[in-house]
Amino acid sequence: MKAIEIRNKYLNFFKNHGHVIIPSAPVIPENDPSVLFTTAGMQPLVPYLLGEKHPEGTRLTDYQKCVRTKDIDEVGDNRHLTYFEMLGNWSLGDYFKEESINMSFEFLTKELGIPAEKLSVTCFAGDEDCPKDQVSAEAWKKAGIAKDHIYYYGKEDNWWIAGEEGPCGPDTEMFYDTGKPACGPNCQPSCDCGKYVEIWNNVFMEYFKDKNGYTKLKQKNVDTGLGLERMAMLLQGKETPFDTELFAPVMKKLEEIQQVDYIESRRIVAEHLRSSMMIISDGGRPSNLDRGYVLRRLIRRMIRHMNKLQINLEELSILIDINVDNLKEMYPDLEKNKETIKSVILEEKDKFVKTLNNGEREFQKEMNKLTGTKMIPGKILFRLYDTYGFPPEVTKELAKENGYEVNLEEFEELFKKHQEKSRAGSEQKFKGGLAEQTQETISYHTATHLLNAALKQIIGKDAHQRGSNITADRMRFDFNCDHKLTDEEKKQVEDLVNKWIQEGLPVTKQEMKKEEAIKSGAECMFIEKYPDIVTVYSIGNVSKELCGGPHVNNTKELGRFKIKKEESSSSGVRRIKAVLIK
Ligand code: ALA
Repeated sequence: MKAIEIRNKYLNFFKNHGHVIIPSAPVIPENDPSVLFTTAGMQPLVPYLLGEKHPEGTRLTDYQKCVRTKDIDEVGDNRHLTYFEMLGNWSLGDYFKEESINMSFEFLTKELGIPAEKLSVTCFAGDEDCPKDQVSAEAWKKAGIAKDHIYYYGKEDNWWIAGEEGPCGPDTEMFYDTGKPACGPNCQPSCDCGKYVEIWNNVFMEYFKDKNGYTKLKQKNVDTGLGLERMAMLLQGKETPFDTELFAPVMKKLEEIQQVDYIESRRIVAEHLRSSMMIISDGGRPSNLDRGYVLRRLIRRMIRHMNKLQINLEELSILIDINVDNLKEMYPDLEKNKETIKSVILEEKDKFVKTLNNGEREFQKEMNKLTGTKMIPGKILFRLYDTYGFPPEVTKELAKENGYEVNLEEFEELFKKHQEKSRAGSEQKFKGGLAEQTQETISYHTATHLLNAALKQIIGKDAHQRGSNITADRMRFDFNCDHKLTDEEKKQVEDLVNKWIQEGLPVTKQEMKKEEAIKSGAECMFIEKYPDIVTVYSIGNVSKELCGGPHVNNTKELGRFKIKKEESSSSGVRRIKAVLIK
C-alpha cells in the first residue's frame, strides 16, 4: 500500500468515526518562536489540549508535516529520518482510552489488514505520579490482542510529553512484529534489535507538567501519532523507508549518476533533500541561527555526500525535479514553490562549494599536525565552521572516515558563545519576526500594530494576533476569528487603519516591568517568552503592545493601507494580507 493510500485511508476512517479533518500546520510553527520545528501533530493543538474550544469540535484528525533533527547524525542508517509525516487523531475531552484503542485496533487490522498476531502493545506500568494503566490493557485484550502480547513499561517508554513542560500522560504503543528472529529469550518490544517496530502511539493526556510537578488537566484528551513512512515500509515488506515509493525515484537516480557506491551517502542525500525541500517550501531559509542553521546543515551535509558519491553538483536541479514530481500529489505546495526551493538550495550549494575544497584541505593539514591524539579539538571544529562553513557533523564524518574523533562539547561551547553574540545583534529583528530592517519592513511592522488594534475594535476583543510575517512588499497577519470577514468588515478595518494613519499619531516607546505592562492593557502574544523588563510601543492612544521594535516615529509615514486578501489560515484563525501604498 502506497503512503498516500495509507494517509487517505486513515483520514477517512477517522472521518467516518466522527472526526473533522483539519489541515497540516506548516513545518515551521508560525506562532511559536520557542520551538524550531513542528515535531508532532499535537504541537499546533496545544491550546485546545489545555481546554480552549476548537472551532471544529472535539474529534479531529490530520496528517502533520514534522521535522525532528535530534538524530540528524543517525540519518543514513536504515530508519532515521529528519522529515516525516505523522498521522494523528485527537479527542479533546471527548472519547478516552477504550474507544481510542478500539479505533486503533480496527484501523490496523481491518483497514490496513495487519493480522492481530503480528501486533504487540505496551502500557504504562504505574508509578508515584500515575497508576498502572490496566484500563488500556483490558481494552486491548477485549479488542483481540493476546495477553502475552501486552507489556508494561515505566515512564521512559510509556509516557509522552513534548519537551520538558506541557500536556502529557501515559501512552500505549503499538508494535509490529517483522517476523525476524528474536535476539534472545528476553526479546520484546522495548528492545532495539529490529524484530519489533513501533507503529503508533496513543497518548492519554490528562496531566500537565511544569517545574512544580504534575497537575490534572481540565479535560482528558487523546493524542495519537502514526509515522507514515514507517508504516508504508512495513506494509510494503521493505527493509527501509528508502525502499518505498517515497524515496525510490531519487534513490534510483542517485545510483545512476554516482561514480562510487555508498549506500549511506545515497540515503543521506535523498533524506536531506526531501527534508530541506519541505522546510524551504514552508518558508525556511538557510542562515547561521536556529532554524536557518538546521536547514544549512541539512543542505551542506547533503552536498558533502554528493561529493563523496562523486556526483556532479549540477545534478541537484534534476534531483529536485524528480522529488517534486514524485511528492506533489502528497504535498502540492512543493510544485507551487518549486522555483523558490531550487534557487534557495542552489544558492546555498554555491556558497558552500566555494569553501568546501579549501576546508577539506585545511582539515587534512590540521589532522596531520595532531600528534599523540586521535581527538580533533573543538577550536579546529569551530574554525572549520566559522571560516569554511563546515557544520560540525560534516567535520565529524570526515574525521571518522580518517579514523579520528572530534571534541563536540568543546565545539558546542565555542558555538554557543558565538551564537549569543550574533543573537544579541539580531535580537531586535527576531522579536518582530522581521527578516531584515528596511524602511519598508519597519513601516509594515507599525502597520501590524494598527491592524491588530483595528481588528479588536471591528471584529471583537478576542481577535488576538496569532502570527505575522513581513517582507519589504507586504504584510501578513493571522488572528483568531471564527468567520470569514465580510466585505463590510474588511472595509471598516481598512478605513480605521487609514484614519489612524492620516491622524499622524506619534509612536512612543517605554520600558517597564512585564506585570505593569500587562496590567496597563498592553497586547502581547507570548507573555511567558518575554523578559521581566519589557519594551512597550504605543501608537497615540489606539494601540499598546509589548514589542522589540523598531517602528516608525509617526503613523503618517505609512502611506495608504490596503487589504489584498483575507483567507483561512487554519481552523479558527484568519489571515489578512495587506500592503502599504506610498
Ligand atoms: N504526540 C505523540 C507522539 O509524538 C503521539 O508520539
